[in-house]
Formats: sequence, C-alpha cells, structure tokens
Amino acid sequence: MKPLEISDLTVGYKTLRGWITALSNVNLSIDKKGEILALVGESGSGKSTLGLAVAGLLSPNARANGSIKINGKEALGKPYNSKVAVIFQDALASLNPVLTIGEQLAEIFVIHEKLDRRKAIEKAKKFLLKVGLSEEFLDKYPHELSGGQRQRALISMALAMDPELIIADEPTTALDVTVQAKVLLVLKNLVKSVGIPMIYITHDIALAMHIADSIAIMYAGQIIELSSKYDIFENPLHPYTKALLKSIPTIDSDVEELYVIEGEPPNPDSFPKGCRFHPRCPLASDKCKSKMPEAINVNGRSVRCHLYG
Ligand SMILES: Nc1ncnc2c1ncn2[C@@H]1O[C@H](COP(=O)(O)OP(=O)(O)OP(=O)(O)O)[C@@H](O)[C@H]1O
Ligand code: SF4
Ligand SMILES: [Mg+2]
Repeated sequence: MKPLEISDLTVGYKTLRGWITALSNVNLSIDKKGEILALVGESGSGKSTLGLAVAGLLSPNARANGSIKINGKEALGKPYNSKVAVIFQDALASLNPVLTIGEQLAEIFVIHEKLDRRKAIEKAKKFLLKVGLSEEFLDKYPHELSGGQRQRALISMALAMDPELIIADEPTTALDVTVQAKVLLVLKNLVKSVGIPMIYITHDIALAMHIADSIAIMYAGQIIELSSKYDIFENPLHPYTKALLKSIPTIDSDVEELYVIEGEPPNPDSFPKGCRFHPRCPLASDKCKSKMPEAINVNGRSVRCHLYG
C-alpha cells in the first residue's frame, strides 16, 4: 500500500470574480516510507493548495474532485487528518504565544498518548533533543526563540504527532541560508530515520535537489514533470524544467549573467489555451497553442509536453 496516492485531483476556489482553477488533474504518489517528494513551482502554481488538500485543510470556498489516498484510505472531502503533520513557513503563527515550548510539546503527548504531565514533559525533552534543542528550551516561550529554533520546535511537534505523512510548506524560506541548511538537514535526517514520507514544498529547485528523492515540477496548477531528482537534474525533459535548472546560480556566475525565464506565469482565471506554458516557451508550435498536452509516460517518467507526445 502506498503512503500517498493522488489521482486526478482538481481544486477550484470560488472568488468574487467567479471560480478559478488552482489545480488541474494532478496525479502523483509517494511509494515508500521515508520518501521525500518536493513540489517545485513559482508563486501561484498551486503548491500550497495541493498540500492543504492532502491535509484536509482547504478553505471553505474551495471545491475539490478526484482522490487522495493516504495509506489506502480516502482522505479527500474528510476534515483535517491529525495523522498528517503540517509545518508552515510562519513558525510564530503556528506556535501558541502564551505557552512554553515544553507545554505545547507535552500537550501533544497528553492528548495523543494519554501520558500524565510528568511523563509527557520527559518525553518532550527527548523530542527537543532530536531536533538539536537542549532541555532549557522546555521553559522558553516562542518569542524567545530565533527563527531557526522555532522551526526546529515545530519539527519536533510534527514528529510528536507520530504522523503518517508530513507536509512542509516552505518551512525554511524566511531563514538565512546557513540556518536554512541546518534546519533542512535536521528535517531530512529525522524523516529518513523514522521513515515518515514527506511532501516538501518550495519555489527553489536547488533546495529541492538537496532534500528530495523525487521532484514534481508545477506550472499553472498542473504537474508538468515528475521523476527522480537524478533524472530531473541530469536529463530534464520539459522546457520549463530546463529553464528552472538554468536559473540556478553557480558560484562563479555574475548577478548580471543569471538566467531569468521571460514573462510571467498566467493567472488562474485566464489560463492560455493549449499548453499553459506556451506564451513563455521558446519551442512552442501551433499545436502547443491550441491543444493541451496530456501527462505522458517517458521511460517511467511523467511529462506534459507535445515534444514527447
Ligand atoms: N483561499 C483561496 N481563495 C481563492 N483563491 C485562492 C485561495 N488560496 C489560493 N488561491 C489561489 O489559487 C492559486 C494557487 O495558490 P497557492 O497558494 O496554492 O499557490 P502556491 O504555489 O503555494 O504559491 P506561493 O509560492 O505564493 O505560496 C493562486 O492563484 C491563488 O491566488
Ligand atoms: S507543449 Fe509546446 S509550449 Fe508546452 S512546453 Fe512543450 S514545447 Fe513548450
Ligand atoms: Mg504557497
């Protein structure tokens, strides 16, 4: 049984200007425990919508169709699933400001494992150590922690819930680069050692290469390429993936030399006809402008582009 299997997921939001499509016909799976799948895409491509749909946390104006199976059980249309732990970018907003880190962590063990307070605090201490926070953090309030320490505290709380799946939505974006790298390593090592599958959401393909086993590239609400990170890195198929990889800065590239993909991603209320990437694609043909490419299988990889159809 797969830890996660998403089939034909489509999500729309009702807005003042009518319905918009945030996700169209998404198919993906996490095949084994401890596998990390990164969702990569520009702002508005639908990454958070996908994460929220899996957790059962879509806003009330959303409508979703398709199927999301977590360990074989249908999760779509069900309320928030406490077996899915979500780590958001804004740690301060996710933590309770009036409780210490120890109290918040211990509360999880009291509720989920029915431990008494003393045992729950003991266990909280152990979970803080797992993320590299010493015992003294038990008595600290969220505002007394640095950004990196807060994210570590959130990771320990996510693990404390003994989740079947973790969704991390840009958890390190607000941190500076060295802190980001350390927090990422803590998270990766923990999910690998405990064997929890994880969806890691980021707009940064270079960061996805560091943390993930497989990568789904999103564009305008669709997955346009999905395969192992090695395939994506060594032989990207989709023109958009190629462009994203070209835009990764290298140590000796000047700022002026950095590659930028021309144009803007489309708004969900006015997706272009045909391939949604065609207005920005250097290889667009007449067919691309009129016919939407289906996701097709190329040597076990999935790509949505007429060049391979
Ligand atoms: N609650 C909502 N109501 C209406 N529209 C929404 C809602 N949430 C997201 N959207 C729209 O759905 C589309 C996808 O948004 P989403 O937040 O999933 O993108 P994202 O890839 O996570 O972007 P970012 O990188 O900026 O976080 C966007 O056009 C967004 O404006
Ligand atoms: S389908 Fe056409 S426009 Fe779209 S990415 Fe492929 S070549 Fe470019
Ligand atoms: Mg988002």
